[in-house]
Amino acid sequence: MIRPMEISDLPTITHIFKQANPKTTAEAIHKYTLPVLQEFPQFCWIVVHSEGTKIVGGITGIIQKDRSAGYIMDIAVESSYHHQNFGHLLMARELKAFDEANVSSVELEIHYLNAKVIPFYYRYGFRLQKIKKDEYGSGQDAIEMNKTFKVN
Ligand SMILES: CC(C)(COP(=O)(O)OP(=O)(O)OC[C@H]1O[C@@H](n2cnc3c(N)ncnc32)[C@H](O)[C@@H]1OP(=O)(O)O)[C@@H](O)C(=O)NCCC(=O)NCCS
Repeated sequence: MIRPMEISDLPTITHIFKQANPKTTAEAIHKYTLPVLQEFPQFCWIVVHSEGTKIVGGITGIIQKDRSAGYIMDIAVESSYHHQNFGHLLMARELKAFDEANVSSVELEIHYLNAKVIPFYYRYGFRLQKIKKDEYGSGQDAIEMNKTFKVN
């Protein structure tokens, strides 16, 4: 089940997001996620296991001030729940929210250690854009991906 993210979810979800952010801390993730949730609740979602209330993953995103482009900040599903379609539920809900916001594109960045998730994003129409060298510190490159939306 997908539901909107709430502030009380932050301790759990930042811990899960830590899996997608190898070189940062849960505290740092909490610090940047709180203002994102406060300003952009429409792009912040939680997925809960269907047989209970356990949070198994989440997604956060923002939109540029001119509302032309969206950006996925974090997406992660707890590792023991991978390959059970929870990531799909999160991504489908997020793309619906960006579509409703009439963005022309959505961007995201992947730490090079997470490169194995690239095929997941390809499924949703994201394509490789560029490598950002040292984006997360010395030797910590990022892979930028982008999805173009139909412009009305
Ligand atoms: C990326 C991530 C969110 C995907 O979550 P997920 O819940 O495993 O996603 P899904 O189950 O919807 O899909 C994952 C794969 O499982 C497959 N799958 C889905 N349901 C399946 C099922 N019932 N049986 C077998 N495979 C299945 C999908 O086809 C998909 O294949 P792909 O890897 O080729 O895309 C998850 O891998 C994750 O949290 N990774 C660590 C954090 C991370 O790297 N985040 C990205 C940082 S930018």
